[in-house]
Amino acid sequence: MEKIIITTSDSVSGIVVGGRWQAVVKLLPEKDAVIITDSNIADIYGDDFPDIPVLKIEPGEKSKQFKIIDSLAKKLLKAGIDRSGFILGIGGGVVCDVTGFLASVYMRGIRAGYVSTSLLSQVDASTGGKTGVNAGSVKNVLGTFRQPEFVICDTTMLRTLPDDEYLSGMSELIKTGIIGDRSIIDLLENNTAAIMRRERELLTSLVSKAIRYKASVVAKDEKEAGLRRVLNFGHTFGHAVELFSGVKHGYAVAAGMKMATLYSYRKDYISRKDCERITDLLKRYNLSGDINIPPEKMEKMIVHDKKRTGTEMNFVFIKGIEKPVVEKIPVRELIGFYKDYLKGIVVI
Ligand code: GLY
Repeated sequence: MEKIIITTSDSVSGIVVGGRWQAVVKLLPEKDAVIITDSNIADIYGDDFPDIPVLKIEPGEKSKQFKIIDSLAKKLLKAGIDRSGFILGIGGGVVCDVTGFLASVYMRGIRAGYVSTSLLSQVDASTGGKTGVNAGSVKNVLGTFRQPEFVICDTTMLRTLPDDEYLSGMSELIKTGIIGDRSIIDLLENNTAAIMRRERELLTSLVSKAIRYKASVVAKDEKEAGLRRVLNFGHTFGHAVELFSGVKHGYAVAAGMKMATLYSYRKDYISRKDCERITDLLKRYNLSGDINIPPEKMEKMIVHDKKRTGTEMNFVFIKGIEKPVVEKIPVRELIGFYKDYLKGIVVI
């Protein structure tokens, strides 16, 4: 078991990787704690939940709406939760985003912690303190930065994930390998069968590595004023794909990472060897979907992206493994590259 601490200017968050999630009961206050979870997680793990009130939301992105926050807030009031209350989110990215957002605004902020149940949330969404809900179809428009007191990442919970959910999380793990820790890539390349069997020790080692990297970034730039933007590698095209096709986040990010890798190669930022290494790794984990969105739709979706400023936007390139760089580029250059990609002009 490992404990990784994320320290920011006004918070300390402890991420526990590799222990059993049931130990969460020791971290809860004696009274005024409630659980927020989704109905799938409650069906699988509900019998072992701590003996406190449980509020359920529907699984999936449709629960990331302000009206869900409003309804949960009314339920907290009814349960008598005041400023000394505590919310425990047990679930994947959606549950953690919703729990974190609610905890950061309910009575101007109450305590919260998570048991993170999906690979995607363990390696990315539940750590780092981003919370939020969508506005219409635009993701995370309403949100806050607020570190949870703790996050528990028990990798045995990953065994119950559907395959597509597991692979979706694998995409964020690959992202972390590319931008921050080449040993993740080595493990993913050399142990594919065992990782696909979801062997606990390997997963614990991979999840720890990903969280350690993310913690180092968040500790330096919690509010994404600069460095933290590197965590958005693959997300510019990825968000557009997610919006357009409705595929799971990780699949969309994988398509976006392929584009960002090809774009980096086109700019001569990376070698052919690194370009092939990344695209091969995505293929190895069945994450090499192609993008086929009409360019005008792509442009429309990209200019909705929060990272755009005026006609320019921040785009995360790589200049090698572990060498992400954020550059401001004109949106028209990005769309020009995308049009060439669609015409088959961009090849390795
Ligand atoms: N998922 C990107 C971040 O936490 O900044």
